[in-house]
Amino acid sequence: MDRIVIEGGVPLRGEVVVSGSKNSTLPILAATLMTSEPCVIRHVPDLSDVRFMLDIIRYLGAEVTQPDKNTVRIHAARLQGVAPYDLVRKMRASVCLLGPLVVRLKSCRVSIPGGCVIGPRPIDLHIKGLNALGAGLTLEEGYVVAHAQGLKGTRVGMGGRYGSTVLGTANVMMAACLAEGMTVIENAAIEPELLDLADFLNAMGARVSGHGTATIVVEGTGKLHGADYRVIPDRMEAGTFLAAAAITRGDVLVKQIMPGHVLAVNRVLEEAGFDLTSGPDWVRLRTVGETRAQDVVTNPYPGFPTDMQAQMMALMCVTPGASVFTERVFPDRFMHVSELQRMGAQIEMEGATAVVKGVDHLSAAPVMASDLRASAALMLAGLVARGKTEIRRVYHIDRGYEHIDDKLRALGARIQRVRET
Ligand code: EPU
Repeated sequence: MDRIVIEGGVPLRGEVVVSGSKNSTLPILAATLMTSEPCVIRHVPDLSDVRFMLDIIRYLGAEVTQPDKNTVRIHAARLQGVAPYDLVRKMRASVCLLGPLVVRLKSCRVSIPGGCVIGPRPIDLHIKGLNALGAGLTLEEGYVVAHAQGLKGTRVGMGGRYGSTVLGTANVMMAACLAEGMTVIENAAIEPELLDLADFLNAMGARVSGHGTATIVVEGTGKLHGADYRVIPDRMEAGTFLAAAAITRGDVLVKQIMPGHVLAVNRVLEEAGFDLTSGPDWVRLRTVGETRAQDVVTNPYPGFPTDMQAQMMALMCVTPGASVFTERVFPDRFMHVSELQRMGAQIEMEGATAVVKGVDHLSAAPVMASDLRASAALMLAGLVARGKTEIRRVYHIDRGYEHIDDKLRALGARIQRVRET
């Protein structure tokens, strides 16, 4: 298992290019299974989560080729509908295969991914949505077993206790494309990754409208065709580099992004005293004067993203003043707290709230990555900690950040990957 060693203390400087969005790519790859024609997906990030998804897609019977490391060609001429636990357990996002498989094959068995360190991951809303379209979904021996004889358009709500479900909305939107008649999805999630999925579906000949608003309308069509599509930039990677620039009190231009997608993160950084400027496809963060702590409340888009909570907490650990972090999407998503504390952070937990008091400095320590965003937070902490921070289990980072160590090194960070066989 690889380790990453970071010697803190260098302000990051320079420019960094952001890769394609992981959370757009995964459902878009699943959607390619809805046609028997080939699809080409470009700007695909080279990540282990993407490789896991491609492994499952191959297992299901599709032909997968990669003309280059960021382009994937999928041809699902024939498919079988069983996705076993051994493949699915590696990545919870594989639940978004349910919609495409049920509508293409009329029956499928997809293993239930189960909970993870960021908390329980129920799929009741996915099931409710697909059931409303007429698929009979039951849970049997750890699998979702689906049977559908012709799905029919309907009106269905995707809101839950913690907001609208992103992949649940994706599943229903995909299945509705090949259902008969019109489907109206209410309380739909409006994350940019869902817009990207809808744009891809429309490129395949689907009739989706209203995406990006809480009401998505899908006119079912009999058949989808192949498409050639480019995935949007990863807003979480962009936000993470902005936080990395901020925590090291550096000056970094983050480019090839969609600045409108990182507004909530930028707002917190600006209120914390950092200087942000932006152009059509870039944002630059500079440190000019005093900085101050800011409260953070995570919410579905366009609120502050839960996928940036850990990284922003790392920043507030070394920002003067106190900040309160409230997690409204995944209330248990605080695995990074105990590792940050081991580096000298002052954080007190109370339920789904963390109170952070900025300290003068963090100290390097051996730490353990526990999930993707928690690992990113530990990397940021390592960039400013005194001494050498060693992060273990970095495969979590590789699930969602393309070559992050190389990109940080190019910005001046003293970072090394120690490969172990
Ligand atoms: N929820 C339910 N029932 C459901 C589905 C979800 O109660 O049937 C709850 C969840 O437990 C959670 C909330 O609703 O409290 C939101 O979950 P959602 O379904 O929106 O999450 P997801 O679609 O499974 C995606 C991202 C996550 C990101 C969340 C929230 C992908 C592949 N994953 O997950 O990304 O945190 O939306 O924005 O798109 C990450 O990239 O690190 C990551 C975890």
